[in-house]
Amino acid sequence: MIELHAFGESCELAKRLEAALPGEASLRTVDVHRFPDRESRVRVASDGAARAVVLRSLDDPNPKLFELLLAADALRRRGVREVGLVAPYLAYMRQDRVFHEGEALSQQVIGRLLSAAFDQVLTVEAHLHRIQRLEEAFTCPARSLSAAPLVAERYRGAPEPWRVIGPDEESEPWVRGVAEAAGLPYTIAHKRRSGDRRVEVELPPMPETTHAVLVDDIASSGVTLAALAGMLRERGVQRCEAVVVHALLSPEAEARLAAAGIDALVSTDTIPHASNALSVAPLLARALAPDTEGAD
Ligand code: R5P
Repeated sequence: MIELHAFGESCELAKRLEAALPGEASLRTVDVHRFPDRESRVRVASDGAARAVVLRSLDDPNPKLFELLLAADALRRRGVREVGLVAPYLAYMRQDRVFHEGEALSQQVIGRLLSAAFDQVLTVEAHLHRIQRLEEAFTCPARSLSAAPLVAERYRGAPEPWRVIGPDEESEPWVRGVAEAAGLPYTIAHKRRSGDRRVEVELPPMPETTHAVLVDDIASSGVTLAALAGMLRERGVQRCEAVVVHALLSPEAEARLAAAGIDALVSTDTIPHASNALSVAPLLARALAPDTEGAD
C-alpha cells in the first residue's frame, strides 16, 4: 500500500490518483501551518509505511519547494523507507543552460535539491529541450511522462478537419507526437521572444485551414497562444482551440486568450485551473504501480 500525501491544492488530482489505484494507495492530506513570519510547519499523517509518495505541483515554486523538503523529512522521521515525489508540474526546467554570464543553472539546482530529499521523482511533460532525459538533471531516478497521447485522444477521429499548430521549433518533436497520434497534419510556427510578455510569431505557408488546435506544454502569460491565434485568424481559420499541459495562467492571461479569439482552452489537471478537462491521474497511476488493473 502506497501512502499518498497530498498538499491542499493538489487534493482533487490526488483523489483521482487514489481512484486510479484501487486498493493500492491511501490518501492523506499534508497539514501546513504558516506562521506570521511566513515560515511553514508541515505535519504528515503517516503510519510509517514502506513506501510513501508526496504529491504537489510546483507552480509558484519557491514556498512550495521548501515545504516539500519538510514533508520528505517528516516522512523519514515517521520511519518511511522510500519517499517519492510526484510533481505533475516541475518548475525551473526552462533554464537548462547558462544563457547569460552570471546566471545559475536552475535545472541542475532543483535536480540536486530534490534528489537529496526524495528517492524518486515523477513528473509530466517536463520542459526538456537541451537534455533528453530528466535523469540528466537528477541524481535519483527521475521520469517525465508524456502527455502527448492524452492531448491527441481529444482530437483523434474528430469529424472536423483539424490542423495541429506548434509554437516554435523547440516544440516540434512533441507537437509531431500529438499530431501523429491524433492522425492530423501539423504546422510549426517560428517564435521570437523579446520579453516575458513579448513574442513575435511567424507561420510558414500552410494549406487552407478552417480548424486549428494550438498545442503547447506550458501557457503562462498567454502571449504565445494569443499571437498564434491572431495569425491564424488572419489566415481565415474559423475555429481556434488551444490545449496545454500545464495551465500556469494568471487571470490577465485568460483575458488575453479570450481577446485573441481562442474559442476554447483545454488543459490537463497538473495545475488546478478552470480549463482542466484532461486528467493525468491514469498516467501517473500506471507509472507508480504498473501492475494495477485500475491504472488504465
Ligand atoms: C516555451 O518554451 C514554452 O513551451 C511555452 O511556449 C511558453 O512557456 C509559453 O509562455 P507564455 O504563455 O508566457 O507565452
